[in-house]
This record gives sequence, C-alpha cells and structure tokens, in this order.
Amino acid sequence: MSILRLRRIRNLTLLFCVITFTMILFSYSLWDPSLLFSKHALHPKRPCSCRHCLTDLDDDPWNADHFNRSIHPLMTRENSVLSEETFKWWQSLQSGMKPANYSEVVEELFQVIPDEVLYMDARPERCRTCSVVGNSGNLKGSEYGDLIDSSKFIFRMNMAPTSGFEEDVGTRTTHHFLYPESAIDLDNNTRLVLIPYKTLDLQWLISALTTGTIKHTYLPVVPRIKANRDKVLIYNPTFFKYVYDSWLEGHGRYPSTGFLSLVLALHICDEVSVFGFGADQSGSWHHYWENNNMKHTGVHDGDYEHNITMLLVEKHKIKMFHGT
Ligand SMILES: *[C@@H]1O[C@H](CO)[C@@H](O)[C@H](O)[C@H]1NC(C)=O
Ligand SMILES: *[C@@H]1O[C@H](CO)[C@@H](O)[C@H](O)[C@H]1NC(C)=O
Ligand SMILES: *[C@@H]1O[C@H](CO)[C@@H](O)[C@H](O)[C@H]1NC(C)=O
Ligand SMILES: *[C@@H]1O[C@H](CO)[C@@H](O)[C@H](O)[C@H]1NC(C)=O
Repeated sequence: MSILRLRRIRNLTLLFCVITFTMILFSYSLWDPSLLFSKHALHPKRPCSCRHCLTDLDDDPWNADHFNRSIHPLMTRENSVLSEETFKWWQSLQSGMKPANYSEVVEELFQVIPDEVLYMDARPERCRTCSVVGNSGNLKGSEYGDLIDSSKFIFRMNMAPTSGFEEDVGTRTTHHFLYPESAIDLDNNTRLVLIPYKTLDLQWLISALTTGTIKHTYLPVVPRIKANRDKVLIYNPTFFKYVYDSWLEGHGRYPSTGFLSLVLALHICDEVSVFGFGADQSGSWHHYWENNNMKHTGVHDGDYEHNITMLLVEKHKIKMFHGT
C-alpha cells in the first residue's frame, strides 16, 4: 500500500471517530444537558435506564463513606450467619426472655418461606422506580395517590392502610415492612418484609404463617397473619446493623422502620421517591389515618435520621415529596 493511501485511511478513520463522538455527545445533551458536564458524557454506558440513576456518582466521597453495596439487604440461608459482633448487637435490641437457638430457627424459617436472592440485578437496561411511603399526617390532602402508584415498587410500613385514603396514598403495595407488634393482614400480591429485632420475631413469623401458637412477644401480637408465604422476605440483621453504623453512626438506639425501608430502597432501586416522612406543616407528628399525637423520638433519633434524609435529597439520591 502506498503511504498516501495509508494516510487517507487514517484520516478517514479519525474523521469517523470525531463524528461518532460528537453525535454521542449531542444526543446526550439533548436528553439531559447536565450530563455533558458529568462523567457520563465520556462513559455513555449508564448504570440504569432511568433519567437519573441512584448509583450515578457512587464514588463521591460522601457516598463511598455511607454505601457498602456488598452487604445484602435481605436474608438468605447463606447470608443468615451473623458475625459475633452483629449477633450480640442484634440480640441486645429487645432482649427479654432467653432466646431460642438462632440458626435452628432460621433453618425452620426457610422451610416455610422461599430462600432466594432477589433484586441484586442492577443493569443498564433496568429502570426500577420506587416509592417509599411513610405514615406521616403530611400525606393527608396531598393527592399523591397516582404519583405513588406510578412507581414499580411501592413500600409501605407498619399499620399503614390504603383503603379510604387512596387519593392521597395510592392503592398499590408491593412491599409491606412490619414486625410482630405492628403486623396487619396483607393482600396476596404484596410481599411481607419482616424486620426482625429478635429471634422470637422469626419464630412468630413461622407461627403466624402456620400454627398460630405465638400470641405474645413483649406485647400481645396477632397470632396469625394473612400474607402470601411464597413472597415473604426477611430484613437481614447484618444489613440492619450496617444501617445503624454506617448511616446513623450509632445515633439513637436503633433505626426507625421508615429509615430502614429507605436505606433498603437505596440498595435495590434505581430511582427513589419518598412520601409521608417528617411532620406536617403545623409541625405535628401523627399518622395520616388517625389523630394520635406522637413524639417522633424515643428509641429512634428522629432528628438525625431527618438530617441524613435531607442530605440524600441534596445529593440527588432521593426525591422528597413534603405533602401538606
Ligand atoms: C463492606 O462490607 C463488607 C462485608 O461486611 C466488609 O468486608 C467490607 O470491609 C465493607 N467495606 C467497607 C468499605 O466498609
Ligand atoms: C444451635 O444449634 C446448632 C445446630 O443444632 C448447634 O450446632 C449450635 O451449637 C447451637 N448453638 C447454641 C448457642 O446452642
Ligand atoms: C396467592 O398467590 C399464590 C401464588 O403466589 C397462589 O398460589 C394462591 O392461590 C393465591 N391465594 C389467593 C387466596 O388468591
Ligand atoms: C441536623 O443538622 C443541623 C443543621 O446542619 C444541625 O444544627 C443539627 O445539630 C443536626 N441534628 C442532628 C441531630 O445531628
């Protein structure tokens, strides 16, 4: 080949590269101009297919200090084994009567519910949007129902009803987080997510789905629960401790159900919208379905949780809907 011909090929290749690169930049800038200035302009392979991805900028120092994506949020037989430190901490949360043998209870549990690894399937084509719905009175009159229902996953917690409040809180629930003392019946399509604070909570779940023999923990509890047992999930105690250590840095005695649900969402969703957190406009803390006047602290450090939640908003990790 002549030198001239080689040069021409080289120039043409170069031109082709420049054109392709410009086109990629251009299409990105049309879609979201801010991306031109982010690292994704040069790495068009984004971590998810939503408009924003939670894992964007995961290597920012604040994120790196808080997130540890190697800890699985849900319990499987394999990850159920707890380190001595975690086990001691977890057992101290609600210590009372002498606990049963944890590993034997876990074995029995996985004979009643499935043992599967779910949701750890982040990929560029995935866009998993999640609504985390707290129980604050600020939902009342908010008319967020349709917005909440438009997410793929909808998390609710404790005694939260939808019936009678559809316009403000929506109708769908994909995951319902609860513990024995806050349990309610669920519909067949909703996944029960048990947050266990003690070995007895795991025993209660086995009982509540089968024989109904456990009627009391430190309070009377419902002996049976209506829930699809093929869809039951268990919040991993190791993840529970990670939320406390890494996200709350040891503030409060342990994290609230709302905060535990939120951090789980940060680990399995691509986009997180938060509803029904915090006080209402008059500064009052009550549930949207009742006029109880609660104090928002106690065993939880509500102020610290609120600060971290607002930081997540500032860092564009979550979108917060404040309600009324
Ligand atoms: C994340 O968690 C794993 C498992 O507990 C641990 O081995 C690792 O050191 C943690 N990474 C960071 C950066 O803390
Ligand atoms: C719990 O049960 C397992 C299996 O039966 C046994 O190996 C283990 O030693 C028991 N642990 C305690 C603390 O009794
Ligand atoms: C609930 O769903 C399961 C499948 O996950 C099905 O086998 C069962 O019949 C359903 N039960 C009711 C009451 O619809
Ligand atoms: C929350 O943040 C505010 C403002 O930065 C600060 O003054 C306050 O002490 C923080 N509260 C807690 C409990 O950390």
